Amino acid sequence: MKTAAGPSQGVSAASSPLVVAVAGGTGFVGKAIVSELSGRGHRVVVLSHRSPVGIVGSVEVRRADATRPETLPAALAGVDAVVISLAFRNSPIEAPRRGQTFEQVDAAGTEALVAAAAAANVPRIVYISGAGAAPDAPRHWFRAKWRAEEAVRGSGIAYTIFRPSWIYGPGDHSLNRFLGFSRWLPFIPQIGNGRQRLVPVFVDDVAALVADALASPAAENATLEVGGPETLTMDEIIRAALRVLGRRRPILHTPVLLMKSLTAPLTLLPSPPMTPSAIDFIVQSAQVDTGPLHERLPRRLRSLPEALATYLAPRG
Ligand SMILES: NC(=O)c1ccc[n+]([C@@H]2O[C@H](COP(=O)([O-])OP(=O)(O)OC[C@H]3O[C@@H](n4cnc5c(N)ncnc54)[C@H](OP(=O)(O)O)[C@@H]3O)[C@@H](O)[C@H]2O)c1
Repeated sequence: MKTAAGPSQGVSAASSPLVVAVAGGTGFVGKAIVSELSGRGHRVVVLSHRSPVGIVGSVEVRRADATRPETLPAALAGVDAVVISLAFRNSPIEAPRRGQTFEQVDAAGTEALVAAAAAANVPRIVYISGAGAAPDAPRHWFRAKWRAEEAVRGSGIAYTIFRPSWIYGPGDHSLNRFLGFSRWLPFIPQIGNGRQRLVPVFVDDVAALVADALASPAAENATLEVGGPETLTMDEIIRAALRVLGRRRPILHTPVLLMKSLTAPLTLLPSPPMTPSAIDFIVQSAQVDTGPLHERLPRRLRSLPEALATYLAPRG
């Protein structure tokens, strides 16, 4: 009988330590993956397109720009596995004039990394996609994620693709923003009605699943949707976090159409602070079927209150 590994017990390290390159290892999700892999004894190489190269603690940083394929072969030298957790700067707010789009970074960038990994005979790849990836999806970001997934699936490399719903944790760019408002505003501003349905998953649990996948033949050549134990609306998530913080704030909803018309002119800027398309991204639901995940990678994933308490609860 399979037993589910829990956060405290973890899954044992791969029988032999690997050299794992993490593209996006300086990002919110990537940092957690780097920390988990290092903690399990793997040698981690962070691929970054703008951090200084060198050794930071036990981690090596190498220069690799996914949008410049010529930078990738050297970055992947001597690597046993590649984890791809890429997102363009300020995602989901695209800046086409600066090459910051889902097509150019998520799709073409992943295609370039996968091609370089195949050319370097890297035997294992893990790709962080997103819930909703599909070839005929109405939203272009889901089609870009699908393109990236197809590159991974067609690479000939043993792969695991994770499609997370909504990931939260100490360094996230979403829940932390709402909670930041609660420090200085008597309310929490929210675009939309707050009823989008999400399956929040703690970033450390996502990282643990990535490390589990590298150690588990059962996860090879699988595309797995990822979510925590509860399906909640965005409002319910914010209220749960406020409860952990011991703060009471009403949530003030602003209509999507109003916000889209206000932000439409900003698309003319080289780096817009918000766009109508990013608003569509922010207010979308992200539901998942986690059955196949639990079948292939048994692990107890933390509930929202349990995980929030690990980093939000006031000390003392
Ligand atoms: N956050 C969520 O709720 C969530 C949910 C589902 C799926 N995901 C997926 O998880 C992945 C990671 O998201 P995140 O929230 O961790 O994003 P993030 O914090 O913005 O990190 C993005 C990473 O991509 C790297 N990057 C950007 N442009 C690059 C380029 N041209 N070449 C190489 N690296 C580049 C950045 O590193 P450098 O700037 O150092 O190069 C950074 O480390 C994304 O694919 C996202 O779609 C996230």
